[in-house]
Amino acid sequence: MNKINDVEQHLRAHRYHWLVTGAAGFIGSNLVEALLRLGQRVTGLDNFATGHQRNLDQVRDLVGATLWANFTFIGADIRNLADCHRACEGVHYVLHEAALGSVSRSIDNPIGTNETNITGFLNMLVAARDAGVKRFVYAASSSTYGDHPALPKIEHQIGNPLSPYAVTKYVNELYANVFGRTYGMESIGLRYFNVFGPRQDPNGAYAAVIPQWIAALIRNTPLRINGDGETSRDFCYIDNVVQANLLAALADKDAANQVYNVALNDRTTLNQLYQMMRELLRERFPHVAAHAPQYVDFRPGDVRHSQADISKAAALLGYVPTHRIGEGLKQAMDWYVRDLARQGNAPGVPQ
Ligand SMILES: NC(=O)c1ccc[n+]([C@@H]2O[C@H](COP(=O)([O-])OP(=O)(O)OC[C@H]3O[C@@H](n4cnc5c(N)ncnc54)[C@H](O)[C@@H]3O)[C@@H](O)[C@H]2O)c1
Repeated sequence: MNKINDVEQHLRAHRYHWLVTGAAGFIGSNLVEALLRLGQRVTGLDNFATGHQRNLDQVRDLVGATLWANFTFIGADIRNLADCHRACEGVHYVLHEAALGSVSRSIDNPIGTNETNITGFLNMLVAARDAGVKRFVYAASSSTYGDHPALPKIEHQIGNPLSPYAVTKYVNELYANVFGRTYGMESIGLRYFNVFGPRQDPNGAYAAVIPQWIAALIRNTPLRINGDGETSRDFCYIDNVVQANLLAALADKDAANQVYNVALNDRTTLNQLYQMMRELLRERFPHVAAHAPQYVDFRPGDVRHSQADISKAAALLGYVPTHRIGEGLKQAMDWYVRDLARQGNAPGVPQ
């Protein structure tokens, strides 16, 4: 039995009101798109700290005017409790994605990360509690495993956080748990592992590795690999994350007030990732054949290996990832190429 098919069928037959925070970001905009396609009513909240209006414009163009009419945008900041209360009015399900991502950003600016990721998170919990939402699903993180050596990572075995960002994501889990115990609120935390896909920002000092490297390969600019390249990650395509969110929102009560890994139970080294991307781009961009990475120091706060045990999400949520890393990269590549063409500075990219 395929649980996600049942959930999607249910959603096509029942319209709920969803709040997606971080709606102008990478994961948030993909959630908005999926929900609108299922005929849902969606409110999106964002302050454009790292998100972009063009992500929302793209969703509008993809879903068409009729479904887009079910979307309302609130330009607001989760650090402001009144904004959170306003956004939660009449909402059945919250998918809370708004946060300042990136380990390095949190090392550069721990206070800024704390304000959005902890105070903002707490504001959203309070607002969702006051609005009586059915369930609060939130973006947790694999960084919570910290220095625990076990592989693959199992939800209840966590170590010490290795960065301010990891602290904030762990505190989110603690608060969500306490809100369950104290106010009877239902939440589910999804520990994402290195998500990638369309609308992930390739630019900026804190860009994630996949969009950043694709941009460097296509533009033929230097690409740095931190350490020896044998660091590994469980890279997870966005469609798997969207699936996990829908399942988490509608899962039985027994599955609530817990956290779940969301990835593949797979491990890809940075060196392998680089080779996969080069292979995929070779035909369209012959210059990548001569491209070579630069190896630089390990980054502080980075864990060496990361791989998710996903059996808990499979058993309690019915999560079955549909895309392995290769399929995800192939599917996302056209978008990345088009996005670079939009930016107009990639050699050999049709404008
Ligand atoms: N991308 C990953 O690999 C990954 C892995 C683990 C966890 N996560 C978590 O998933 C969530 C979404 O990440 P993403 O990759 O889509 O990042 P993103 O930066 O693309 O999206 C985050 C969005 O939140 C918004 N935001 C930030 N501060 C805000 C504030 N104070 N008020 C309102 N909106 C605010 C940003 O403008 C942005 O649109 C985050 O909570 C992140 O920590 C992501």
